[in-house]
Amino acid sequence: MRALSGKCWLAGQCWLAGAGWLVLGELNGDYPLPMTRVLSGVQPSGVLHVGNYLGAVKQWAATQAESDAFYCVVDLHALTLDIAPDDLRSRTLETAIGLIAAGLDPDVCTLFVQSHVPEHTELAWLLECTASYGELKRMTQFKDKGAGQESVRASLLTYPVLMAADILLYDADEVPVGDDQRQHIELTRDLAARFNGRYGETFVVPEAAIPKVAARVMDLQNPEKKMSKSTGTPAGTIAITDSADEIVKKVRRSVTDAETDVRYDVASKPGVSNLLEMLSAATGDDPYVLASRYTSYGPLKNDVADALVALLAPVRERINELTADPGEVTAALEKGADKAQAVASVTLRRAREAMGLTQRRIS
Ligand code: TYM
Repeated sequence: MRALSGKCWLAGQCWLAGAGWLVLGELNGDYPLPMTRVLSGVQPSGVLHVGNYLGAVKQWAATQAESDAFYCVVDLHALTLDIAPDDLRSRTLETAIGLIAAGLDPDVCTLFVQSHVPEHTELAWLLECTASYGELKRMTQFKDKGAGQESVRASLLTYPVLMAADILLYDADEVPVGDDQRQHIELTRDLAARFNGRYGETFVVPEAAIPKVAARVMDLQNPEKKMSKSTGTPAGTIAITDSADEIVKKVRRSVTDAETDVRYDVASKPGVSNLLEMLSAATGDDPYVLASRYTSYGPLKNDVADALVALLAPVRERINELTADPGEVTAALEKGADKAQAVASVTLRRAREAMGLTQRRIS
């Protein structure tokens, strides 16, 4: 829950956004209490997969009504790697459709496209003037994707600062993400605290909210590597649009290990543990308890496949409906960008003033 710090800009911002107050009339007399502000994002670099769904989006959908939630399709982030303009255009809409089909309700949360709110890039620049080259070049994702290559896009190095701007613009208390984003949230916290220390209290320092299971869904063909839109294997990645047959085939062919017993042991049995985590996220049962129910891999794989088919069938159906008539989605994104910008513009102004940037006089 957002701390009641007594700073009127925080209160003012919530009112300005027209959202963010949970009125607990009976519990709290006439005084409204602020809701937890949540922000997260997903890249439109490919079709959403089971890792995105179980590690992040499922939680977003489940908690959107009890928080003041902002979710964005981070199209600017997708430009850090090579992507054709037509692909970026179509995948941005497809990703928004996938999020709504997976349960985000644009009337409940604020759903928008990152580049529709230009405050993100301006705040990113201000934060780049707070970050150091050393801390950015040490980020794992930069080291994995581009370190040492002269031709790597400069934006791959500065990408985590743009992500920090995405979060800090909305005074987010919590950032629900998968485990691979942990380091980025740490950097965001460092930048916020450093900025506040140097220029005065400006940003809320956010916390990562990482699920207990399925925080790092692994590639079914290579359980040492996370399932990924950009670097995963096609046979090891289950898209949320995959048919029941494709899901069954991919799970049945998933790589396990030479032993035959079913144990939840991520270090020595990564493939089996990955299946157990997916089943756990789908059913709500503990992965250790689930493991005790199986004596061989076959029945476990069948149950994982059935659970994923059941979970994703309604999502795929809704994707088909929305894709046939995307007008509803584009209208929701436009409304979302307006709501997001109302919040973002206030924070950006605060940061600019704190740093000593002057306002253009409007006569
Ligand atoms: P992205 O697009 O790679 O992934 C979106 C969300 O899905 C989670 N995720 C996974 N969870 C479990 N297992 C996996 N194999 C898996 N793969 C992805 C990610 O952790 C993420 O929560 N940098 C971010 C996008 C971003 C962002 C932000 C996130 C930009 N600005 C601000 C939060 C707040 C990214 O590339 O996510």
